[in-house]
Amino acid sequence: MTELTHTHADLLQQRYGNQLKPEKIIMTPVVEAMLRHKSVRTFLPDALPEGAIETLVAAAQSASTSSALNQWSLVAVTDVALKNEIHDTVAREVKVDRIPWILEAPALLLWVADASRSAGITRDLGDEPLVLDYLDSFLMASVDASLAAQNAALAAESMGLGIVFLGVMRNIAKELATMINLPDHAFVSFGMALGRPDAERTSAIRPRPAQPVVLHYNRYNQEGYCDYVEDYEQAVSEFRTQQNMAAKTWKGALHNSMTSMQYLGGRKALHEMVVEKGFKLL
Ligand SMILES: Cc1cc2nc3c(=O)[nH]c(=O)nc-3n(C[C@H](O)[C@H](O)[C@H](O)COP(=O)(O)O)c2cc1C
Repeated sequence: MTELTHTHADLLQQRYGNQLKPEKIIMTPVVEAMLRHKSVRTFLPDALPEGAIETLVAAAQSASTSSALNQWSLVAVTDVALKNEIHDTVAREVKVDRIPWILEAPALLLWVADASRSAGITRDLGDEPLVLDYLDSFLMASVDASLAAQNAALAAESMGLGIVFLGVMRNIAKELATMINLPDHAFVSFGMALGRPDAERTSAIRPRPAQPVVLHYNRYNQEGYCDYVEDYEQAVSEFRTQQNMAAKTWKGALHNSMTSMQYLGGRKALHEMVVEKGFKLL
Protein backbone atom coordinates (compact mmCIF):
# COMPACT_ATOMS: atom_id res chain seq x y z
CA MET A 1 0.00 0.00 0.00
CA THR A 2 1.31 3.43 -0.93
CA GLU A 3 0.72 6.67 0.94
CA LEU A 4 -2.37 8.39 -0.50
CA THR A 5 -1.63 11.65 -2.27
CA HIS A 6 -3.89 14.67 -1.84
CA THR A 7 -5.40 13.90 -5.23
CA HIS A 8 -6.21 10.34 -4.23
CA ALA A 9 -7.66 11.38 -0.89
CA ASP A 10 -9.74 13.96 -2.73
CA LEU A 11 -11.00 11.30 -5.15
CA LEU A 12 -12.09 9.09 -2.25
CA GLN A 13 -13.78 12.10 -0.68
CA GLN A 14 -15.72 12.68 -3.88
CA ARG A 15 -16.66 8.99 -4.20
CA TYR A 16 -17.78 8.57 -0.58
CA GLY A 17 -18.39 12.09 0.73
CA ASN A 18 -18.19 12.16 4.53
CA GLN A 19 -19.07 8.49 4.92
CA LEU A 20 -16.80 5.73 6.15
CA LYS A 21 -14.00 5.41 3.58
CA PRO A 22 -11.76 2.49 2.71
CA GLU A 23 -8.44 3.03 4.46
CA LYS A 24 -6.17 0.65 2.64
CA ILE A 25 -6.62 1.57 -0.97
CA ILE A 26 -3.86 0.34 -3.26
CA MET A 27 -3.87 3.17 -5.74
CA THR A 28 -2.77 2.34 -9.28
CA PRO A 29 -3.30 4.36 -12.46
CA VAL A 30 -6.16 2.00 -13.41
CA VAL A 31 -7.85 2.25 -10.01
CA GLU A 32 -7.46 6.01 -10.13
CA ALA A 33 -9.06 6.11 -13.59
CA MET A 34 -11.97 4.01 -12.26
CA LEU A 35 -12.45 6.26 -9.25
CA ARG A 36 -12.61 9.28 -11.57
CA HIS A 37 -15.61 7.88 -13.46
CA LYS A 38 -18.64 10.05 -13.85
CA SER A 39 -21.43 9.75 -16.40
CA VAL A 40 -21.33 12.46 -19.03
CA ARG A 41 -24.58 13.85 -20.38
CA THR A 42 -23.27 16.99 -22.09
CA PHE A 43 -21.12 16.67 -25.18
CA LEU A 44 -19.22 19.02 -27.47
CA PRO A 45 -20.04 18.73 -31.16
CA ASP A 46 -16.50 17.43 -31.89
CA ALA A 47 -16.10 14.30 -33.99
CA LEU A 48 -14.57 11.30 -32.22
CA PRO A 49 -10.79 11.02 -32.57
CA GLU A 50 -9.75 8.80 -35.45
CA GLY A 51 -9.47 5.21 -34.25
CA ALA A 52 -11.58 5.80 -31.13
CA ILE A 53 -14.21 3.16 -31.89
CA GLU A 54 -11.65 0.57 -32.94
CA THR A 55 -9.70 1.23 -29.74
CA LEU A 56 -12.84 0.86 -27.65
CA VAL A 57 -13.64 -2.44 -29.35
CA ALA A 58 -10.10 -3.74 -28.73
CA ALA A 59 -10.56 -2.85 -25.05
CA ALA A 60 -14.03 -4.43 -25.03
CA GLN A 61 -12.72 -7.60 -26.66
CA SER A 62 -10.04 -7.80 -24.00
CA ALA A 63 -12.68 -8.34 -21.31
CA SER A 64 -13.26 -11.91 -20.23
CA THR A 65 -15.98 -13.66 -22.18
CA SER A 66 -17.93 -16.70 -20.97
CA SER A 67 -16.34 -19.89 -22.34
CA ALA A 68 -14.57 -17.70 -24.94
CA LEU A 69 -17.81 -17.71 -26.95
CA ASN A 70 -17.65 -13.94 -27.68
CA GLN A 71 -21.41 -13.62 -27.40
CA TRP A 72 -21.73 -9.87 -27.73
CA SER A 73 -21.70 -7.32 -30.51
CA LEU A 74 -21.52 -3.58 -30.77
CA VAL A 75 -23.68 -1.57 -33.15
CA ALA A 76 -22.03 1.85 -33.31
CA VAL A 77 -24.63 4.34 -34.52
CA THR A 78 -22.77 7.25 -36.13
CA ASP A 79 -25.34 8.06 -38.81
CA VAL A 80 -27.02 11.23 -37.56
CA ALA A 81 -30.39 10.47 -39.17
CA LEU A 82 -30.55 7.01 -37.57
CA LYS A 83 -29.36 8.37 -34.21
CA ASN A 84 -32.07 11.05 -34.35
CA GLU A 85 -34.69 8.45 -35.22
CA ILE A 86 -33.64 6.36 -32.22
CA HIS A 87 -33.68 9.49 -30.05
CA ASP A 88 -37.17 10.48 -31.20
CA THR A 89 -38.50 6.99 -30.52
CA VAL A 90 -37.03 6.97 -27.00
CA ALA A 91 -38.27 10.51 -26.29
CA ARG A 92 -41.81 9.56 -27.34
CA GLU A 93 -41.70 6.49 -25.13
CA VAL A 94 -40.40 8.28 -22.03
CA LYS A 95 -42.51 11.37 -22.81
CA VAL A 96 -39.87 14.09 -22.88
CA ASP A 97 -39.18 16.52 -25.71
CA ARG A 98 -35.53 15.71 -26.03
CA ILE A 99 -32.76 13.73 -24.43
CA PRO A 100 -29.84 16.08 -25.11
CA TRP A 101 -27.10 13.55 -24.47
CA ILE A 102 -28.38 11.25 -27.22
CA LEU A 103 -28.68 14.16 -29.66
CA GLU A 104 -25.34 15.77 -28.77
CA ALA A 105 -23.14 12.67 -28.64
CA PRO A 106 -21.44 11.96 -31.98
CA ALA A 107 -21.91 8.22 -31.44
CA LEU A 108 -24.53 6.05 -29.82
CA LEU A 109 -23.11 2.63 -29.00
CA LEU A 110 -25.61 -0.21 -28.74
CA TRP A 111 -24.28 -3.13 -26.73
CA VAL A 112 -25.84 -6.35 -27.91
CA ALA A 113 -26.14 -9.60 -25.98
CA ASP A 114 -25.56 -11.69 -29.05
CA ALA A 115 -26.02 -15.43 -29.40
CA SER A 116 -27.00 -15.14 -33.08
CA ARG A 117 -23.54 -16.24 -34.30
CA SER A 118 -23.64 -19.21 -31.93
CA ALA A 119 -27.04 -20.19 -33.33
CA GLY A 120 -25.93 -19.73 -36.97
CA ILE A 121 -22.68 -21.65 -36.62
CA THR A 122 -24.39 -24.50 -34.72
CA ARG A 123 -27.03 -24.78 -37.47
CA ASP A 124 -24.31 -24.69 -40.14
CA LEU A 125 -22.80 -27.67 -38.35
CA GLY A 126 -26.13 -29.49 -38.64
CA ASP A 127 -27.64 -29.12 -35.18
CA GLU A 128 -30.22 -27.02 -33.38
CA PRO A 129 -28.81 -24.72 -30.65
CA LEU A 130 -31.00 -26.27 -27.92
CA VAL A 131 -29.10 -24.65 -25.07
CA LEU A 132 -30.17 -21.18 -26.27
CA ASP A 133 -33.69 -21.96 -24.99
CA TYR A 134 -32.47 -21.64 -21.42
CA LEU A 135 -32.28 -18.49 -19.30
CA ASP A 136 -28.59 -19.08 -18.66
CA SER A 137 -27.78 -18.49 -22.34
CA PHE A 138 -29.49 -15.12 -22.27
CA LEU A 139 -27.72 -14.26 -19.04
CA MET A 140 -24.37 -15.40 -20.39
CA ALA A 141 -24.61 -13.15 -23.45
CA SER A 142 -25.91 -10.25 -21.33
CA VAL A 143 -23.02 -10.57 -18.89
CA ASP A 144 -20.53 -10.71 -21.79
CA ALA A 145 -22.03 -7.54 -23.28
CA SER A 146 -21.85 -5.74 -19.92
CA LEU A 147 -18.22 -6.64 -19.29
CA ALA A 148 -17.25 -5.59 -22.81
CA ALA A 149 -19.10 -2.27 -22.46
CA GLN A 150 -17.50 -1.43 -19.12
CA ASN A 151 -14.03 -2.05 -20.54
CA ALA A 152 -14.92 0.23 -23.46
CA ALA A 153 -16.20 2.88 -21.05
CA LEU A 154 -12.90 2.92 -19.17
CA ALA A 155 -10.94 3.05 -22.41
CA ALA A 156 -13.06 5.98 -23.58
CA GLU A 157 -12.54 7.85 -20.32
CA SER A 158 -8.79 7.20 -20.49
CA MET A 159 -8.66 9.03 -23.84
CA GLY A 160 -10.58 12.04 -22.52
CA LEU A 161 -13.95 10.98 -23.90
CA GLY A 162 -17.08 10.65 -21.81
CA ILE A 163 -19.93 8.15 -21.72
CA VAL A 164 -23.30 7.54 -20.20
CA PHE A 165 -24.92 4.12 -20.23
CA LEU A 166 -28.48 4.15 -21.57
CA GLY A 167 -30.81 1.51 -20.18
CA VAL A 168 -33.58 3.56 -21.69
CA MET A 169 -32.85 1.77 -24.98
CA ARG A 170 -34.75 -1.18 -23.51
CA ASN A 171 -37.87 0.99 -23.39
CA ILE A 172 -37.92 0.79 -27.18
CA ALA A 173 -36.43 -2.69 -27.52
CA LYS A 174 -38.77 -3.86 -30.26
CA GLU A 175 -38.60 -0.75 -32.46
CA LEU A 176 -34.85 -0.52 -31.95
CA ALA A 177 -34.34 -4.12 -33.06
CA THR A 178 -36.16 -3.31 -36.30
CA MET A 179 -34.28 -0.03 -36.83
CA ILE A 180 -30.87 -1.71 -36.64
CA ASN A 181 -31.80 -5.03 -38.33
CA LEU A 182 -31.11 -7.09 -35.22
CA PRO A 183 -31.18 -10.85 -35.91
CA ASP A 184 -32.85 -13.47 -33.72
CA HIS A 185 -30.95 -14.45 -30.58
CA ALA A 186 -29.64 -10.91 -30.24
CA PHE A 187 -30.83 -8.21 -27.84
CA VAL A 188 -29.68 -4.65 -27.14
CA SER A 189 -28.88 -4.77 -23.42
CA PHE A 190 -28.25 -1.02 -23.20
CA GLY A 191 -26.88 1.89 -25.15
CA MET A 192 -23.99 4.24 -24.43
CA ALA A 193 -23.69 7.83 -25.56
CA LEU A 194 -20.06 8.60 -26.44
CA GLY A 195 -18.34 11.88 -27.14
CA ARG A 196 -16.05 14.64 -25.99
CA PRO A 197 -17.42 15.96 -22.64
CA ASP A 198 -18.40 19.59 -22.41
CA ALA A 199 -16.43 20.41 -19.25
CA GLU A 200 -18.50 23.56 -18.70
CA ARG A 201 -21.67 21.54 -18.23
CA THR A 202 -20.37 18.24 -16.83
CA SER A 203 -21.52 16.99 -13.44
CA ALA A 204 -19.34 15.81 -10.57
CA ILE A 205 -18.32 12.38 -9.32
CA ARG A 206 -21.42 10.79 -7.81
CA PRO A 207 -21.09 9.31 -4.33
CA ARG A 208 -21.56 5.62 -3.65
CA PRO A 209 -22.54 4.01 -0.33
CA ALA A 210 -19.89 3.06 2.19
CA GLN A 211 -18.33 -0.31 1.46
CA PRO A 212 -20.17 -2.33 4.17
CA VAL A 213 -23.38 -1.70 2.20
CA VAL A 214 -22.12 -3.79 -0.69
CA LEU A 215 -19.25 -5.84 0.73
CA HIS A 216 -19.80 -9.06 2.67
CA TYR A 217 -17.04 -11.35 3.80
CA ASN A 218 -17.80 -15.05 3.53
CA ARG A 219 -21.53 -14.90 4.26
CA TYR A 220 -24.22 -12.41 3.30
CA ASN A 221 -25.23 -10.13 6.14
CA GLN A 222 -28.80 -9.06 5.44
CA GLU A 223 -28.88 -6.17 7.89
CA GLY A 224 -25.32 -5.07 7.12
CA TYR A 225 -26.37 -2.03 5.14
CA CYS A 226 -28.81 -0.53 7.65
CA ASP A 227 -26.26 1.34 9.76
CA TYR A 228 -24.83 3.13 6.73
CA VAL A 229 -27.94 4.30 4.87
CA GLU A 230 -28.38 7.61 6.69
CA ASP A 231 -24.77 8.59 5.99
CA TYR A 232 -25.32 7.74 2.33
CA GLU A 233 -28.47 9.86 2.29
CA GLN A 234 -26.36 12.72 3.60
CA ALA A 235 -23.76 12.24 0.86
CA VAL A 236 -26.50 12.03 -1.79
CA SER A 237 -28.15 15.16 -0.45
CA GLU A 238 -24.86 17.10 -0.48
CA PHE A 239 -24.15 15.95 -4.04
CA ARG A 240 -27.62 16.91 -5.27
CA THR A 241 -27.45 20.33 -3.60
CA GLN A 242 -23.99 20.98 -5.06
CA GLN A 243 -25.24 19.93 -8.52
CA ASN A 244 -28.43 22.04 -8.27
CA MET A 245 -30.51 18.89 -8.60
CA ALA A 246 -34.00 18.58 -7.15
CA ALA A 247 -34.03 17.19 -3.60
CA LYS A 248 -34.48 13.42 -3.74
CA THR A 249 -33.45 10.73 -1.28
CA TRP A 250 -31.82 7.45 -2.25
CA LYS A 251 -34.50 5.47 -0.44
CA GLY A 252 -37.17 7.51 -2.21
CA ALA A 253 -35.54 6.83 -5.59
CA LEU A 254 -35.34 3.11 -4.79
CA HIS A 255 -38.94 3.06 -3.65
CA ASN A 256 -40.10 4.82 -6.79
CA SER A 257 -38.19 2.51 -9.07
CA MET A 258 -39.54 -0.56 -7.23
CA THR A 259 -43.17 0.55 -7.29
CA SER A 260 -43.76 2.73 -10.34
CA MET A 261 -45.04 1.02 -13.45
CA GLN A 262 -44.52 4.36 -15.19
CA TYR A 263 -40.83 4.15 -14.31
CA LEU A 264 -40.78 0.68 -15.85
CA GLY A 265 -42.36 2.10 -19.01
CA GLY A 266 -41.96 0.08 -22.21
CA ARG A 267 -39.76 -2.43 -20.39
CA LYS A 268 -42.94 -4.13 -19.17
CA ALA A 269 -43.06 -5.92 -22.52
CA LEU A 270 -39.45 -7.11 -22.45
CA HIS A 271 -40.15 -10.74 -21.65
CA GLU A 272 -42.40 -11.06 -24.68
CA MET A 273 -39.90 -9.28 -26.92
CA VAL A 274 -36.94 -11.35 -25.76
CA VAL A 275 -38.90 -14.56 -26.28
CA GLU A 276 -39.94 -13.34 -29.75
CA LYS A 277 -36.24 -12.88 -30.48
CA GLY A 278 -35.76 -16.60 -29.92
CA PHE A 279 -34.59 -16.74 -26.32
CA LYS A 280 -37.14 -18.95 -24.57
CA LEU A 281 -35.77 -18.17 -21.07
CA LEU A 282 -36.60 -21.66 -19.75
C1 LIG B 1 -27.00 -0.32 -17.21
C2 LIG B 1 -27.13 1.17 -16.97
C3 LIG B 1 -28.15 1.88 -17.56
C4 LIG B 1 -28.25 3.26 -17.41
N1 LIG B 1 -29.23 3.94 -18.06
C5 LIG B 1 -29.27 5.28 -18.03
C6 LIG B 1 -30.22 5.99 -18.81
O1 LIG B 1 -31.04 5.42 -19.51
N2 LIG B 1 -30.20 7.36 -18.76
C7 LIG B 1 -29.29 8.03 -17.99
O2 LIG B 1 -29.31 9.26 -18.01
N3 LIG B 1 -28.37 7.37 -17.23
C8 LIG B 1 -28.34 6.02 -17.24
N4 LIG B 1 -27.39 5.33 -16.51
C9 LIG B 1 -26.37 6.07 -15.75
C10 LIG B 1 -26.65 6.01 -14.25
O3 LIG B 1 -27.71 6.85 -13.93
C11 LIG B 1 -25.36 6.43 -13.53
O4 LIG B 1 -24.35 5.50 -13.79
C12 LIG B 1 -25.59 6.53 -12.02
O5 LIG B 1 -26.46 7.59 -11.73
C13 LIG B 1 -24.28 6.78 -11.28
O6 LIG B 1 -23.68 7.97 -11.76
P1 LIG B 1 -22.20 7.97 -12.34
O7 LIG B 1 -22.16 7.00 -13.50
O8 LIG B 1 -21.97 9.39 -12.79
O9 LIG B 1 -21.29 7.55 -11.26
C14 LIG B 1 -27.31 3.95 -16.61
C15 LIG B 1 -26.29 3.21 -15.97
C16 LIG B 1 -26.21 1.85 -16.15
C17 LIG B 1 -25.09 1.09 -15.47
